[in-house]
Amino acid sequence: MCGIVGYIGKRDAYPIIIKGLQRLEYRGYDSAGVALYNDNEIHLCKTKGKVSDLKEKAKTDISTEGKLGIGHTRWATHGVPNDVNSHPHYSNSGDLVIIHNGIIENYESIKKELKNRGYTFKSDTDTEVLVNLIEDVQKNEDVKLGKAVQIALNQTVGAYAIAVFSRKKPKEIIVARLGSPLAIGVGEDEYFIASDASPFIEYTSNAIYLEDGEMAVVRTHKPLKILKIKDDSLVAPYIQELQLNLEQIEKGGYEHFMLKEIFEQPQAIKDTFRGRMLEKEGMIKMAGMDEHMNKFLNAKRIVIVACGTSWHAGLVAEYIFEELVRLPVEVEYASEFRYRNPVLEKDDVVIAISQSGETADTMAAMKLAKENGAFVFGVCNVVGSSISREADAGAYTHAGPEIGVASTKAFTTQITVLTLIALKMAYEKGKISKSDFHMHLQELDRIPEKVEKALKYNDHIEKVADKFKDAPNFLYLGRGFNFPVALEGALKLKEISYIHAEGYPAAEMKHGPIALIDEQMPVLVIATRKGHYEKIISNIQEIKSRKGKIIAVVTEGDEQVKDLADYVIEVPETMDSMSPLLTTIPLQLLSYHIAVLLGKNVDQPRNLAKAVTVE
Ligand code: M6R
Repeated sequence: MCGIVGYIGKRDAYPIIIKGLQRLEYRGYDSAGVALYNDNEIHLCKTKGKVSDLKEKAKTDISTEGKLGIGHTRWATHGVPNDVNSHPHYSNSGDLVIIHNGIIENYESIKKELKNRGYTFKSDTDTEVLVNLIEDVQKNEDVKLGKAVQIALNQTVGAYAIAVFSRKKPKEIIVARLGSPLAIGVGEDEYFIASDASPFIEYTSNAIYLEDGEMAVVRTHKPLKILKIKDDSLVAPYIQELQLNLEQIEKGGYEHFMLKEIFEQPQAIKDTFRGRMLEKEGMIKMAGMDEHMNKFLNAKRIVIVACGTSWHAGLVAEYIFEELVRLPVEVEYASEFRYRNPVLEKDDVVIAISQSGETADTMAAMKLAKENGAFVFGVCNVVGSSISREADAGAYTHAGPEIGVASTKAFTTQITVLTLIALKMAYEKGKISKSDFHMHLQELDRIPEKVEKALKYNDHIEKVADKFKDAPNFLYLGRGFNFPVALEGALKLKEISYIHAEGYPAAEMKHGPIALIDEQMPVLVIATRKGHYEKIISNIQEIKSRKGKIIAVVTEGDEQVKDLADYVIEVPETMDSMSPLLTTIPLQLLSYHIAVLLGKNVDQPRNLAKAVTVE
């Protein structure tokens, strides 16, 4: 989704903004732009394409000097990706300039009214409507820019993070948020504005995260002012110290962020259970859960809401919870849940899973659950994100920044947190014995080392990828705990290589997909020893007798499947319930190598955004 960067202070704004936009590239975008103030003028440059295209264009088109500026990467919602629809947008007078992430839902009616009052529009965007609404308010009510922004926003319906400044008062940037993230980096006599902290982490580790419904007047000649958009009331700034460092958001020698993040999984999983899994004491400590243990112990049902990969982690959790806690679990696409009339009881525990913590559908689903009286627990990766703040309680995955658009370490760390929750519940409810609980903890403790071993097959997987890179379709099959892994493997391949792939429970194949199998169809089968092994072997035989090409993910040392499959990829042995943490590794690597061999943009696949902040 769109990325926002801004700067006001003593340094040159342009290089900070450009670098910041590059750091936000992972969010997904189709055009980029910048507006700078210098010499009593706004210097604006924007273009369809990448930040590198913007840099080229800016070289000839504008003066890139100035100590105040805003920049934007656009992910098209209203209007096709082109130069005109790119941000920033001027108001009709040319005095105001704005960047926006989100959607103004009632922009058509506002546009109509503004047109009646003589305003004209160059673009098809809702954003250009907003900046003109602000201008109109300022003109009619003779108020300062901050007040005009506040009045205008109160007339809008929708979601936004905006930054706007005026040529007439070039000493401040007005920012506001509702439903889209916005952080302010606080330096010495300087401020940074961004969709997340990555654009300013090298300049300051002090940040303010605006809450939904807040706006700020960012200026260096007077103290920063934060207020509620609704009623103007002042909010005391809460400055957080960031734990993030520059190294974490750079590639560290890997060709792509995705590969780096795949290889970070042993450490990420360790970080997820660090301080929580007290193996010697035989307990799991999770502050968010401990404080609300009665909710978990009295829960009659668990409802999981999430999207994409996080939804797949939720499906794995369904199997784990049902096995260990013996509670009914429902896993819902957040986007469906929010538009149904879901039956929710006060004894339901709703778990919202989200890497970014900003996914609009998941956020809306959790709000609906709260309105219906359910207790909502958030499982997020991004600290301070909207979902983590909105939840009644929660647990962070602590995976570190995930920059590649395709989720990898987010998935395995989500499963790790959900396993910890299930184990703790099961133990405290007396559903598993002490020795069983210990056995699970010990095995979980060994998982990072086993993931490390699974990663050692990388070169072999690259060779397998080379054999299948030109296949137009793929089937992924798994059973039990590994059925969601099959779905996740298919999603990974689709999103970064653009090859059509489908995931299925292996036994479902005979109810339809088997018709697709011929010598052209690669079928990836997860066939680990503990997961319905004999049944899976029968499924493999069914594929083989129809000449399908079989790539099997097997337990180390397996001989039986090796005889049947065209290619095997080994993973270490583990408990069935923890096998998704290992079987997912070769699937991530396979899709990565196929995409690289096909020359695709692995970290920023077309049409995709890292945080989907619109519905
Ligand atoms: O940030 P979230 O976990 O809420 O994101 C949910 C999905 O948008 C995300 O998992 C998406 O499917 C990824 N591209 C998967 O790799």
